Amino acid sequence: MVRDTTVLMDEKRIFKASDEIKENALVKNWESEIEKGKDLEKYWSEKAEQFEWFQKWDKVLDESNKPFFKWFTGGKINLAYNAVDRWIKTEKRNQVAILYINERGQEKKITFYELYLEVNKVANALKNLGVKKGDTVSTYMPMCPELLIALLACTKIGALHSVIYSGLSVGAFVERINDAKVKVLFTADGTYRRGKIIDLKNIADEAILQCPTVETIVVVNHTGTPIEISELSGREIFYERLIDGEPAHCEPEPMDSEDPLFLLYTSGSTGKPKGVLHTTAGYMLGAATTLRNVFDIHDDDLWWCTGDIGWITGHSYVIYGPLLLGTTTIVYEGAPDYPDPGVWWKIVEKYGVTKFYTAPTAIRHLMRFGTRYTNLYDLGSLRILGTVGEPINPEAWVWFYENVGKGKCPIMDTWWQTETGMHMISPLPVADLKPGSTTLPLPGVDADVVDEEGNPVPVGKGGYLVIKKPWPAMFRTLYKDEERFENVYWKEFPGYVYKAGDMARKDENGYFWIQGRSDDVLKIAGHRIGSAEVESAFVGHPAVAEAAVIGRSDPIKGEVIKAFIILKEGYELKTHLIEDLKKHVRYELGPVAVLGEIVQVDKLPKTRSGKIMRRILRAQEMGEDLGDTSTLEE
Ligand code: WT7
Repeated sequence: MVRDTTVLMDEKRIFKASDEIKENALVKNWESEIEKGKDLEKYWSEKAEQFEWFQKWDKVLDESNKPFFKWFTGGKINLAYNAVDRWIKTEKRNQVAILYINERGQEKKITFYELYLEVNKVANALKNLGVKKGDTVSTYMPMCPELLIALLACTKIGALHSVIYSGLSVGAFVERINDAKVKVLFTADGTYRRGKIIDLKNIADEAILQCPTVETIVVVNHTGTPIEISELSGREIFYERLIDGEPAHCEPEPMDSEDPLFLLYTSGSTGKPKGVLHTTAGYMLGAATTLRNVFDIHDDDLWWCTGDIGWITGHSYVIYGPLLLGTTTIVYEGAPDYPDPGVWWKIVEKYGVTKFYTAPTAIRHLMRFGTRYTNLYDLGSLRILGTVGEPINPEAWVWFYENVGKGKCPIMDTWWQTETGMHMISPLPVADLKPGSTTLPLPGVDADVVDEEGNPVPVGKGGYLVIKKPWPAMFRTLYKDEERFENVYWKEFPGYVYKAGDMARKDENGYFWIQGRSDDVLKIAGHRIGSAEVESAFVGHPAVAEAAVIGRSDPIKGEVIKAFIILKEGYELKTHLIEDLKKHVRYELGPVAVLGEIVQVDKLPKTRSGKIMRRILRAQEMGEDLGDTSTLEE
């Protein structure tokens, strides 16, 4: 069934790039770049020349075992080497690689050379801990330099990393660590958030009791709160101690192009999160190329992506994309509205940020303050803006364009996913823009909108978003679950077409308008969370017999959770129980699971085989026709 309401289309409203943008752009002709991208292998192999390879590839694309595509087979390369070591042989050696800023106004600058030294020390320390190529290391950390250093150290020695977002809680943590059989965990005492210090270590301490594979826990004393090394393990070591005395040189592990690079868990339709696996060369290429093209990255740019490293946005565009281009990356720890809603604009002015990439939910939040804060600061350094994570409503787009970009910065509305690893459908800066549309597939990407049978739909009609040809940064499988990988993404349509899980439509210019998920995945403030995960958290509470969860639209967060629950005998949905349920769900899943409403019901719509029909609940919520109810039990 097609759900299409999220974006009000205004296809006639077109914003054209200024002459200044056009003259400066690395890609001056959008259409001809798209044309070039049609020869996939030629296009991507030319781009792959940007890296230093230890050994060149034999074959660009191997399609012999669909959908297990391979890129640049026979090649040998190392990510950390290309993101760090390569630059210290150039004039970038003493340039700032990481500019860390927090909500207290503190900053720390780390040059490429300093980054090189510290990554090597951590890499050597990991080896001493027994971490080998192919082992998995996890992090549960705030946005701080040590997080980037830990991840780069993993890629230097060929260990996989699996980042756990610091906003996830015990249940989600344990599930991810155990699935990936994590050997070493990096964590920190806490993180700054709205004037407080949120304790991370107590969550990690509690979770780790259920994680038998973790041999060592490395603790960064980030906020300077006194930490007691807990008695639980003898498994813990302070970060400072870990690297103390380690040699500052470490040979990069020559990785096969297709060697696993990292895991990142994301939500799907069922309760179990999916371990999305990315491999080395293709991922590097996708992240670096799209960042350069979409945000037109020049040597003098100051790049700021506000996304958290706990999500793919942070992997591709806080760490890897920028460092692979030798670009300074801002790592910001804090909320967008603390100490006041001008904090981001203050940073833009102070450092002269030129490219700024954020989420629609943040824009909608800051938009409520009108021009009060955007006018307090000089935002004249900005050249290009971007958004990601969910559809942006045209009002928010225009507010961002006029008040932050002052009518001269094009907005790159980038559609992509954890699975795609890189931007897929997005304008380039020289493009004609329509607020609310992600415009066209990027050069080297072949996307379309199709009906249930896989046939392209007519102009203006809703359908399933698909990718028809492989792309370098595509995920290669779901960790230890090839069957799910094939079934969820590749079996729905004939010919190994990738099913993205979104609904979309195209207008008469071929522009894409993304309309939201086609599955039972919610997008809360741009964060992905599965209905089934939330339901199972509810059912884990002693008062709840059954639960069904849908998204309810929310003006700031896009969506929040609306839960329908059947209580066990003897329970009533009174205030204290509501509070307790909220606490419980937060404990299991973390603050990402924002509860908008809990309603008590005595029946849930189900199929005869007992599956909850969330579709019916959604239709009721929207006041829409219930659609086909022939499979409904009663
Ligand atoms: C889902 C992927 C990609 C990094 C952050 C999210 C939605 C993403 C857009 C956009 C409309 C978007 C889709 C997609 N989405 N970007 N520009 N316009 N929707 O990664 O957590 O894997 O979520 O986010 O629904 O499938 P993710």
